[in-house]
Amino acid sequence: MAAKIIDGRVFAAGILAEVTAEVSAIRAARGRVPGLAVVLVGEDPASQVYVRNKARTTKESGMESFEYRLDVGTSEAALLSLIAELNDDPRVDGILVQLPLPKHIDSARVLDAISPDKDVDGFHVLNAGRLATGLPGLVPCTPLGCLLMLKHELGDLSGLRAVVLGRSNIVGKPMAALLLAESCTVTIAHSRTRDLEAVCREADILVAAVGRPEMVRGSWVKPGATVIDVGINRVPGDAGKTKLVGDVAFAEAADVAGRITPVPGGVGPMTIACLLRNTLAAAKLAKIKA
Ligand code: GUN
Repeated sequence: MAAKIIDGRVFAAGILAEVTAEVSAIRAARGRVPGLAVVLVGEDPASQVYVRNKARTTKESGMESFEYRLDVGTSEAALLSLIAELNDDPRVDGILVQLPLPKHIDSARVLDAISPDKDVDGFHVLNAGRLATGLPGLVPCTPLGCLLMLKHELGDLSGLRAVVLGRSNIVGKPMAALLLAESCTVTIAHSRTRDLEAVCREADILVAAVGRPEMVRGSWVKPGATVIDVGINRVPGDAGKTKLVGDVAFAEAADVAGRITPVPGGVGPMTIACLLRNTLAAAKLAKIKA
């Protein structure tokens, strides 16, 4: 294996330690701590795990966690009314509605009902627009975590060729915007891209966010490139068990890449750390506006 493994757990622990220290300072200064509300509709098993981890880490950082677990049949109107309450609640600095939502609910309408100042996921159209136009705002947690790791590993990213594999609103598009803001030459590749392999092989920075287990092979990676694997896919493992793999065939890619994130233990922990970083940023903004 040639590549250096980028340890997202260690990096995330550093961010969480900084957040925890700031939360203590806010408690001392204001007599209250920042609060994060997490809303889950339905019982999707993966979402339940994510929400549990988010709530646990929120409490570990000293912040207040408000959890709302709603029945899968909850109406859009009821969800919008909960969001309106949370928007007005001064104890709540950040609001996260876990995706995907059940099909009868219009996700875009729900996300845009969250106050942009409490939109710690950065999914509100106003925050997406701010990111696209280079204005300050709340930035989606997973791409932010990827960017922090990249800057830590590589320093100045300007002029590097970046290929983002995947065009979702949650990862691909904001990731591309962040890399462009760092003056990378950015390509967004997706399922219709012709000669995907050759496009990926051009990349100094390759971010894979497609949700297809081990799709990116070693032969797709430029020697020495930095590979960030956003995928978290559960696949059959040994002895009837399941295991987690990324969107990158790790062992093959690690033979070619200069640096690579593992799954698990790469991007995943950074997403939660950035969520709490965003909640802290929103709490500071609330103080400024108060
Ligand atoms: N579902 C998968 N990833 C995310 C995320 O980053 N935020 C929310 N709210 N839902 C998700």
